[in-house]
Amino acid sequence: MTDVPNGLVEGRVLAKKQWTQNLFSLEVTAPIEEYVAGQFTKLGLLNANGEWVRRAYSMVNHPNHDYGHQHLEFLIIADSDGQLSPKLNQLVSGDTIYVGKQPSGFMTLEEVPEHARDLWMLSTGTAVGPFLSMLDDDSLVDRFDKIVLVHAVRRAEELVYAKTVQDAQARMGKQFEFVSVVSRENHQTSLSGRIPQLLLEGRLQKHVEMELNAPHSFVFMCGNPAMVKDTSSALTELGLTKHLRRKPGHFSSENYW
Ligand SMILES: Cc1cc2nc3c(=O)[nH]c(=O)nc-3n(C[C@H](O)[C@H](O)[C@H](O)COP(=O)(O)OP(=O)(O)OC[C@H]3O[C@@H](n4cnc5c(N)ncnc54)[C@H](O)[C@@H]3O)c2cc1C
Ligand SMILES: NC(=O)c1ccc[n+]([C@@H]2O[C@H](COP(=O)([O-])OP(=O)(O)OC[C@H]3O[C@@H](n4cnc5c(N)ncnc54)[C@H](OP(=O)(O)O)[C@@H]3O)[C@@H](O)[C@H]2O)c1
Repeated sequence: MTDVPNGLVEGRVLAKKQWTQNLFSLEVTAPIEEYVAGQFTKLGLLNANGEWVRRAYSMVNHPNHDYGHQHLEFLIIADSDGQLSPKLNQLVSGDTIYVGKQPSGFMTLEEVPEHARDLWMLSTGTAVGPFLSMLDDDSLVDRFDKIVLVHAVRRAEELVYAKTVQDAQARMGKQFEFVSVVSRENHQTSLSGRIPQLLLEGRLQKHVEMELNAPHSFVFMCGNPAMVKDTSSALTELGLTKHLRRKPGHFSSENYW
């Protein structure tokens, strides 16, 4: 067996949920360091040539959940041309998987500047994961007046974790708004189109009966880099500025590739 690279520890697959042929969740146990809601770690396996393939994956579950921070859940889409994700899709309960010991990432609630009262979380595909983790954070209801989660997918069958969203709705009531966007079929309870256009046309703001105004709003974007780029332009057009630690602003992002 090839030596395990520095930074990876051995873990085990506890469960797998298959949402669609390509979309699945893995529950994994591994002795990793503590993480903060919104962060990611690495998953790794050996390929057929005996080389390690590692990629970043965000934890969907909050670190303070009942089973503790070493019980991790990931939402993954297998890209048939990809090196690692199709292999992850073949794993079954009991299989060995290698996990990055040190989680990382700055898309966390601590990074939201103090001026923000409304938090908008805009995601495509599997990038809803880190926001689902944040939804379970106890600080959310006191810290913000309103929390909006937007999940944009191609097809309605990819609107996963409905129970987590419903639980958040039950807990937070009118403080929380969930908006689904389905782009490649009609879906009765979802908006159609793409996030940047929905923002520029004001359809998203109208749907949640909120304004996206610079002093009180903060926007996290996560997922498809083209969405992040186009949405950043749309937000700039709407008068918001990019957030930097040295110069507080109104939006920040994490690209998935
Ligand atoms: C910070 C961070 C967190 C991430 N978290 C997740 C996660 O929680 N779940 C997850 O499925 N992926 C996540 N990714 C993407 C993941 O790291 C891999 O890039 C992805 O699984 C593809 O790896 P691969 O080896 O199969 O494909 P590669 O051989 O690396 O091919 C990459 C190609 O796959 C496509 N692609 C990559 N990731 C995605 C994605 N998530 N959705 C759609 N298309 C994609 C792109 O076209 C890209 O060019 C994250 C990436 C980053 C940087
Ligand atoms: N989802 C599937 O059924 C499927 C099936 C096989 C393989 N895959 C592979 O899996 C990977 C991930 O697919 P995915 O569907 O999770 O992610 P995705 O391709 O990023 O699509 C998710 C959502 O993001 C939207 N989007 C794309 N570009 C955008 C932009 N510039 N601005 C705003 N929104 C944008 C898409 O809208 P549009 O629909 O308008 O693009 C869609 O609603 C891809 O590499 C794909 O090849 C996916």
